[in-house]
Amino acid sequence: MNTTVQLEERILTDPRQFRVLTGDRPTGRLHLGHYFGTLHNRVRLQDLGVEMFVIIADYQVLTDRDVADDLTGHVEELVLDYLAVGVDPARSTIFTHSAVPALNQLMLPFLSLVSVAELNRNPTVKDEIAHSRQSAVSGLMFTYPVHQAADILFCKGNLVPVGQDQLPHLELTRTIARRFNDRYGDGTVVFPEPDALLSSAPLLLGTDGTKMSKSRRNAISLAADADETARLLKGARTDSERHITYDPAARPEVSSLLLMAALCQNRTPEEVADDIGSAGAAALKKTVTDAVNEYLAPIRARRTEYARDRAFLRRTLREGNERARAVADATLTEVRAAMNSHYR
Ligand code: TRP
Repeated sequence: MNTTVQLEERILTDPRQFRVLTGDRPTGRLHLGHYFGTLHNRVRLQDLGVEMFVIIADYQVLTDRDVADDLTGHVEELVLDYLAVGVDPARSTIFTHSAVPALNQLMLPFLSLVSVAELNRNPTVKDEIAHSRQSAVSGLMFTYPVHQAADILFCKGNLVPVGQDQLPHLELTRTIARRFNDRYGDGTVVFPEPDALLSSAPLLLGTDGTKMSKSRRNAISLAADADETARLLKGARTDSERHITYDPAARPEVSSLLLMAALCQNRTPEEVADDIGSAGAAALKKTVTDAVNEYLAPIRARRTEYARDRAFLRRTLREGNERARAVADATLTEVRAAMNSHYR
């Protein structure tokens, strides 16, 4: 695998050699953790001229829950967040799993290329099973990394911006691509072995000091208004030390708040800490609230605009799905030819 530094260099010299596949499970609105963790980077890549496919993983999300709650609503919220942060549907393709049959069909040959033992070893799946809200481990839960390989390979994505937790899935995707090429390629490369582009953004904590997550009610969603943001941050956990310093190991909550302000203001958390000095936690929270609200104001304004135009929203998804289907159909045709199952 290429390192992130090597990849960044190649992206700058020739963005057009890359096709990014990235995406999210539709579980609701995206938050600041998503934004600085990945959304910001996706828009940067798009604006550098890298072609991008953004998948809304509406099959993978079935591994999260037993009940089918408002999936359509969640999908629309996700599209709104994408548009608001600057994903441009004229340049990037936003689509859903369920609308692209040929993508899903790739799952079958791909399943034949991995062993049950390999699936069993995946640490991220193990972790998700341990924290699962489902009553039993489903076959889909067990095999979703193979499905994720289909997400990436259907469009021959060769660059996948991810966090650490997704690396096992990417390794499996590379294995599947390699084995498919070896078994069926007859000397040609049908699928690329995609590279992971690791996010350099440090993790933001939620307002309770644990991982920022919608289900923990500790997240500042992009769509929250300024008052809600102020209220959430007012209740944020800090510590009893009045003098504010950036020290992620010893003072995780205070440091995460400093980081949040710093990311929004494009400066270092140490600088933010120095400005606050001995003014205490209340002053820190005020600084963070102002920084976040100022940074998110244009994103929130765009989101409100797009939310009014439901027709545009639906058209974005319809056109994205059409584009994804065309690409998936072409890949499946190639796969059929390689596998000698082209009967027409
Ligand atoms: N597994 C990712 C998550 O939980 C979502 C996802 C689905 C994805 N398919 C993908 C990410 C393909 C990257 C590439 O957030």
